[in-house]
Amino acid sequence: MLLKKGVLIVFEGIDGAGKTTQAEILLTKLQKNGFEVVYFQEPSRGKWGRIIKEKALLPDSLTPEEELELFQRDRKENVKRNLKPALEKKRVVILDRYYFSTIAYQGAKGIDPEWIKSSNEKFVIKPDLVFILDIEAKKGLKRIEDRKRKDKLFEREEYLVKVREIFKGFKGENIIHIDGKRPKEKISKEIKKIVVDYIKNTDNKESNIFEKNKQ
Ligand code: TYD
Repeated sequence: MLLKKGVLIVFEGIDGAGKTTQAEILLTKLQKNGFEVVYFQEPSRGKWGRIIKEKALLPDSLTPEEELELFQRDRKENVKRNLKPALEKKRVVILDRYYFSTIAYQGAKGIDPEWIKSSNEKFVIKPDLVFILDIEAKKGLKRIEDRKRKDKLFEREEYLVKVREIFKGFKGENIIHIDGKRPKEKISKEIKKIVVDYIKNTDNKESNIFEKNKQ
């Protein structure tokens, strides 16, 4: 076992910000460097996650309160079934979306962001690092427009402008805002350095892995 304790790394951002791309690049880089890494997503692949994918992602099929309820149920299950066990095994856990998404997305639909935050902080595991990838709503949508229905794009842009503002407002020593419009190689290099430095500086190591990985 290489680490003394598990490390939870979260990727956040509006649709098209590049978080899934960056999460996957980090996963590969850390694995190549000998870390034991696992990757999870929210909405998850569990029961609630599947319901969310069927229902909540269709515009206006649920009220914001119903969405909130489903995302939180999914998260409780994800924490218990996936995150906690992997962290107990001292893995690096890469998580693509977490409760910051609920604060931003359901917050942008009118639910009090502070309330969402405190209700989630009652049951989540606090992340070690949170990367918030930032991109203009229009640019993010352009990147993914092939995947989405075009007639909804305008409405979606107005919404994502609000979601982005909430994401931009997150502050804290574990929160890192990343300019997502730069080339993905630049961003991934920066992220990897922050992660490795973090693990190093918290003295979270059992072996000489960092000696091997100096490059
Ligand atoms: P996701 O599957 O990450 O889509 P993408 O890979 O295209 O970013 O997320 C699906 C949508 O769910 C996304 O638009 C954000 C939304 N979402 C919320 O509204 N609240 C939440 O708590 C989470 C986790 C996601």
